Amino acid sequence: MAQVSGESVFIEGKCIRCHTLGRGRFVGPDLLGVGDRYSRDDLIRWARDPESIYAEEKKKPLNDGYPPMPPMNLSESDAQKVADYLMGYKLPSDLAESGTIKGRIGNITTGKPEEEHNVVLISYMGDRQQERHFAESDSLGNFSFSSLRWDRSYEIVLFHEGVQYVSSKMVFLPGEDRITLDLPVYDTTTSDENVSLQSLNLIVYPDEESGKVNVTSLYVFENSGNTVFTAESEGPDTSKLVFSIPEEAVDVTFSGGVNPEAMQREEEKLYSKLPFLPGMKRIALGYSLPLSQVRGKFQIGFNYEVADLTVFVRKTELGVRVEQPGAVAEETMIHDEAFLKYQLSDLKPGDVTVIVSNTSFLKSDIGKYLPVILFFVLVAAGIISFFYRKNRLRI
Ligand code: HEC
Repeated sequence: MAQVSGESVFIEGKCIRCHTLGRGRFVGPDLLGVGDRYSRDDLIRWARDPESIYAEEKKKPLNDGYPPMPPMNLSESDAQKVADYLMGYKLPSDLAESGTIKGRIGNITTGKPEEEHNVVLISYMGDRQQERHFAESDSLGNFSFSSLRWDRSYEIVLFHEGVQYVSSKMVFLPGEDRITLDLPVYDTTTSDENVSLQSLNLIVYPDEESGKVNVTSLYVFENSGNTVFTAESEGPDTSKLVFSIPEEAVDVTFSGGVNPEAMQREEEKLYSKLPFLPGMKRIALGYSLPLSQVRGKFQIGFNYEVADLTVFVRKTELGVRVEQPGAVAEETMIHDEAFLKYQLSDLKPGDVTVIVSNTSFLKSDIGKYLPVILFFVLVAAGIISFFYRKNRLRI
């Protein structure tokens, strides 16, 4: 295992979110020279459990004008390392007065730098947005933000052809006065020629109790081109990621960072309006089908060729199974539940047919309609006896 240094505990232990070293107050006090104020043991206590200090001093917070420090729950050895680091830390003599963030915007599609591009730098204190700084890239795609405060975290946002690119959040590490980053952007396309479905996993989970079949689909898409696939126009055209869902589907949910508002439902199809950058994209889609609506069978469709398709069907009294040429069931256990597993490969766009072979659930359906059926039976009987009586009267 890699040796963890006191500095990396200070960075990864999130101390940098609230403390600077020699750069002034942040959420908490500047920790430069903190070893002169506290013993090593006390520093370990601060790092592990500030409450024990508060209890001993009978004061919380200890320093006026600051909130109390939350417990960071470091291990004993990490707390020792960070305490030693704080005691030994010396400010580098050549450190600049303020920070600089420099970067270069390269267009991966054209292989050229992006000039005259607007770049926005957003600064944060904790989670709260503070200032916005603006810059423009030069002919080599370079931009630079200087005179930046140490006690902020930063994020870069830019737009290219309508697609938003956001960097991860950056902070100046102890002793660091410059951050350099590369920002790749891509041209966009509305053609899905580079988009393919690598794999699709379907989990079909009949649940007699709730009277529903729950279907979860896990899609792994690949954009193998060097352009962003985006939807330009509204409405059902092919320039979007398309997901088939049965018309009867209810409780439709998405996971994997997909904002449901970025999806659009039109009867049996869902469209993703999200831009799809080169690389992989995983999307989980879930919905329920009321058993009373599916009757004997239903179809789960897919709009792309798929290299690997795996279907898991939970075994229940309903005897749900897949009926597809080449589909062979294999029994498997997942979390103590029995499933039938089917594996299919190299499929054309189409669907998987799922059969509900034991329609015993229809009994409960009959239960629901029994009063209605009885009513008609009685009405029919009444009519018959009426005729019967009439006939008798005639006799
Ligand atoms: C969420 C913000 C936050 C984080 C994260 C945080 N601290 Fe603090 N820290 C504070 C605040 C606020 C104070 C002042 C509290 C007080 O005076 O009671 C403080 C005080 C301290 C002090 C005493 C400073 C003095 O001058 O009295 C030490 C030492 C310290 N923190 C170390 C750490 C270490 C080490 C870490 C990382 C493991 C860390 N802190 C993480 C907010 C934080």
